[in-house]
Amino acid sequence: RSDSQLTVSEELVADEMSSWDRTAVGLVPTMGGLHQGHLNLIKRARQENSTVIVSIFVNPLQFGPNEDYARYPRTLEQDQKLCENAGVDAIFAPTPEVMGVGAKNIQDSLITQVIPPSAMILGLCGRSRLGHFQGVATIVTKLLNLVQPDRAYFGQKDGQQLAIIKRLVADLNLPVEIVACPTVREASGLAFSSRNQYLSAAEKEQAAVLYRGLKKAEAAFKSGVRHSSQLIAVVQQEVARVSTVLLEYIELVEPTTLMSLETIEEEGMLAIAARLGSTRLIDNIILRDR
Ligand code: PAJ
Repeated sequence: RSDSQLTVSEELVADEMSSWDRTAVGLVPTMGGLHQGHLNLIKRARQENSTVIVSIFVNPLQFGPNEDYARYPRTLEQDQKLCENAGVDAIFAPTPEVMGVGAKNIQDSLITQVIPPSAMILGLCGRSRLGHFQGVATIVTKLLNLVQPDRAYFGQKDGQQLAIIKRLVADLNLPVEIVACPTVREASGLAFSSRNQYLSAAEKEQAAVLYRGLKKAEAAFKSGVRHSSQLIAVVQQEVARVSTVLLEYIELVEPTTLMSLETIEEEGMLAIAARLGSTRLIDNIILRDR
């Protein structure tokens, strides 16, 4: 591995795929704009697999018409260097055409889509991002079928996405193990995100209030608060201190089914979304005893 050049391919061809050590293949699906969160997934994949593939694809199916598809960070050269240093074996960076989701297909809706359970896609981020998780589920299914990894790595940062993908893999009997990795944060507590590139230094400081709110709720949970309304109020109060951060939702759900929770019996996911200017931020924390 170490003496071979890192290949970046737009298409996966039989020749290249047959050069992979198939003992165990790990896939890290990303949209690029790689940061410490992605690198941590890659590190974990490197520890557990003989071959590590990173996919980089800004998936048009998961962006709404008024979202940031056009301006989403595209930094392939830098991503390539980061992957090389992290010991990645190959980057799969397809075009929308290769993925069968080019402009024409989308306009003509000539795409078979994977639709996760309504109960999991209508709440939380699904409320403001219609069709988003259908687009994620569809593209992840295609990536898994193309690469055929033994394991695929996802971050807890996108807690709803993680739960939906686990459900998808179980329901469709996809032969892959989904590995969940913890959220990686900056020193301020702000979760790394490709979208942080949209923020100024001052805005990044303001954005750190999300995690401060979640940590205050965690402290309340540890001191015995179990009710959703009380935990949510703690976060709301903290976030209200930064007037530029506009709360979209703060909800307590069961982490695997995403069902709304009134009280925490075993564990809960406290999930938050907010806007800072035109940038949408999400974060969450798992609350459980132990
Ligand atoms: P993207 O936002 O690039 O994230 C790729 C993976 O990195 C996801 O599993 C995400 O949860 C994880 N990740 C992002 N920030 C993280 C952080 N701070 N700590 C830990 N993990 C983090 O999520 C997507 O792309 C797309 O929806 C994708 C799954 C690739 C499908 O298009």
